[in-house]
Amino acid sequence: MHSIQQYQDFVLDFLNAQPKLREPKNLYEPIQYILGLGGKKIRPVLTLMSAEIFDADYSKALPAALAVEVFHNFSLVHDDIMDDAPLRRGNVTVHEKWNINTGILSGDAMLILAYQYFEQYEPAIFRELAKLFSKTALEVCEGQQWDVDFETRSDVTIPEYLKMIEYKTAVLVAAAMKMGAIVAETSVENGELIYDFGLNLGLAFQLQDDYLDAFGNPATFGKQIGGDIIENKKTYLYLKAIEFASAEEKAKLLQLFSVSLEENKTKIEAVKSIFNTSGASNATQQAIQDYTLKAFATLDKMNISPDKKAILKSFGENLMNRNV
Ligand code: IPE
Ligand code: IPE
Ligand code: MG
Ligand code: MG
Ligand code: MG
Repeated sequence: MHSIQQYQDFVLDFLNAQPKLREPKNLYEPIQYILGLGGKKIRPVLTLMSAEIFDADYSKALPAALAVEVFHNFSLVHDDIMDDAPLRRGNVTVHEKWNINTGILSGDAMLILAYQYFEQYEPAIFRELAKLFSKTALEVCEGQQWDVDFETRSDVTIPEYLKMIEYKTAVLVAAAMKMGAIVAETSVENGELIYDFGLNLGLAFQLQDDYLDAFGNPATFGKQIGGDIIENKKTYLYLKAIEFASAEEKAKLLQLFSVSLEENKTKIEAVKSIFNTSGASNATQQAIQDYTLKAFATLDKMNISPDKKAILKSFGENLMNRNV
């Protein structure tokens, strides 16, 4: 096994070794741009880690890892269009730097490029990877559509929210890990258990993303703080606030989330204050911990050495304490 830092370097080296800019520039430059902005690379790191956990060399999992990262970046470019986001990884978003049409087409091309990485595998593994990837990619689209549909609904429930984040975010984290298992040709059972681990970790990850969107440090977070509040996103913070708030605060929150405002600063501050006073912030922190622990519980059923379980646990703990 290697350290997280080493896995990140392996991903970066492999990415940098890929063929560079082609014509037309306006298609490929935005792709280089978004991939060059860094990011935490948690999904490809998990793919490499999972491969080594099931006794394959990490290098065998590099094409699959990059496929997941390129797909993730495609989803970010389109997500930023859908969320009207100005900032990504501390830089201006693709559709703001170029334009929306460029974001759409460069994103589409990245989705295809992601698929092409699987061609590097022999037929049996290729088939398994492509099958999992197609299923996952479609689920991400479904999750993204629910996310947008919920913006204009005022009756979203917690189970609906959980399904939405499972699809838009958790399934990709889970698939990233299962791809490591597929490449390592481990047992079907191990593949399912690592998928489960990734799914719960992914749920905790999106809950944390929602929390940081409101309460992250603007100097380091790299995205617009309060973006979810501006877009009336029905996050866990919001749904718990609606559940816990006094009648007066609830009415205020419903009113604030029923409109799109030009001047958002006051709205963001008012909403964050209700998130805190209602107990929604604490409930979200608790849920992040609960899903992380649920992920850890799946490790007990897994037939791998204790030191490998410890590495996965430490990864989960780091994620829980992240501020980016
Ligand atoms: C952001 O993902 C989108 C979500 C699913 C929350 P990351 O937080 O992994 O983004 P980068 O790749 O590190 O920038
Ligand atoms: C992103 O959810 C999910 C996908 C990109 C598929 P968010 O919209 O919360 O992600 P960020 O916060 O913009 O990174
Ligand atoms: Mg977004
Ligand atoms: Mg979004
Ligand atoms: Mg977010």
